[in-house]
Amino acid sequence: MLRRRFHPYNRIRRILFALIFFLLNAHFFFHFLHSDPEPAPDTSALWEYSPYVAIPRVHGIGKVYIAANHWISAKVLKPYWINGLLLLIQQLGPENVFVSIYENGSWDETPAMLRELDEILDKMGVARRVLIEAVTHREQVAELVAQGDDKPGWVMTSRGKKELRRIPVLAKLRNRLLEPLEQLQRQGRGAFDRILFLNDVVFTAQDVIRLLKTRNGNYTAACSVDFNKPHQYYDTFALRDSYGREAPAQRFPFFASGESQEAMMDGRPVPVKSCWNGMVAFDAAPFLRPQNPLRFRAVDDSLAVSHVEGSECCLIHADNAKHGFHSRQRAGVWVNPMVRVGYNFPAYQYQRLHMYSWPEYLISLPVRVGVWLLRMPWSKEQVSARIKEWKGEEAGRDEPGDFCLVDEMHVPEGLAGVFP
Ligand SMILES: *[C@@H]1O[C@H](CO)[C@@H](O)[C@H](O)[C@H]1NC(C)=O
Ligand SMILES: *[C@@H]1O[C@H](CO)[C@@H](O)[C@H](O)[C@H]1NC(C)=O
Repeated sequence: MLRRRFHPYNRIRRILFALIFFLLNAHFFFHFLHSDPEPAPDTSALWEYSPYVAIPRVHGIGKVYIAANHWISAKVLKPYWINGLLLLIQQLGPENVFVSIYENGSWDETPAMLRELDEILDKMGVARRVLIEAVTHREQVAELVAQGDDKPGWVMTSRGKKELRRIPVLAKLRNRLLEPLEQLQRQGRGAFDRILFLNDVVFTAQDVIRLLKTRNGNYTAACSVDFNKPHQYYDTFALRDSYGREAPAQRFPFFASGESQEAMMDGRPVPVKSCWNGMVAFDAAPFLRPQNPLRFRAVDDSLAVSHVEGSECCLIHADNAKHGFHSRQRAGVWVNPMVRVGYNFPAYQYQRLHMYSWPEYLISLPVRVGVWLLRMPWSKEQVSARIKEWKGEEAGRDEPGDFCLVDEMHVPEGLAGVFP
């Protein structure tokens, strides 16, 4: 949190000093790091899948419900995502998994690739639902518009019109992945140990198995770390440290002082309040309970309208903690810093080869000093004030995911501006 004991001039001087320090170091270090002279080793064998090659089984993980949304992800689907998944299923055993995939209106080869995957899964004897929605973005928006702007998810924006929020739509898309779960439960086939969400990322079967085995399985949720550029982690919206604070840096060690940073430096599982970051494995129990099963949601429109927004991927952890789900065998939310995935192959490859090598420790130095000098992460007083005001307006209002919330409004082009 931002400390206020400094005189303002003192703070300006600090910030200036930090900036200069940052710029000098950043230039030196990043130039140095990017000029990697060694040719990268060939890693393509990691995604070699053959139905005829028997792969040793991995035991002790139990039954896994694998869930994935896809939208225009052909670039990572082949060979990385699809072969990674097939190799994972070979190791877990086809009888131990259920695959739920939902695709919605891609205009690249994503639907064709997923249909092909569906056929392979059929031959392997994998229980699944691969739902490919032949709906375009325009059709989807038209349908939502037809339902009327008095429905949940529509808010009045500063542009003076009603616009559709993105997060409730995303929460719905994620919940669609969990629909088969209800049917399986009714059929008595719903005894899963883990629910695994896979983004459209490059990963290997070993990465997922390592993630599933985080802390020998003692977690309510365990996440990977995701990168969209070789050094830059991506998902700032859902990651919160053990105090519920945002991670101030997109470079290693990401977190400001405290338990989370220490664990990240040491390469131990990192205690956090929330994470998503490319791949996340949940203890399945809260999703399976008969009363009030855990599902994705957005914050209330009445709160979002005051320019406050939070990721469905963070709120789910807040709800999970709030609804009193406690297990001695499976406790806490953790980032497994040894499991790193990429939104493209170069980012994946770089992290795979360089995690916890000396350039990473070197880079951590200016990052840690800079974050400390700037007293990051800064407190979110405006957001807290808006939440407080919102609570005061009506009795009984509550938002357990206050640490998820940021000073943003998400009403993207395409979904927005439909109403004059
Ligand atoms: C499909 O899902 C993605 C997120 O996975 C979302 O950004 C996009 O707007 C959705 N498209 C449609 C047609 O719903
Ligand atoms: C699981 O982890 C929690 C939190 O670290 C710990 O208190 C508990 O003893 C662990 N349970 C087992 C069975 O190891």
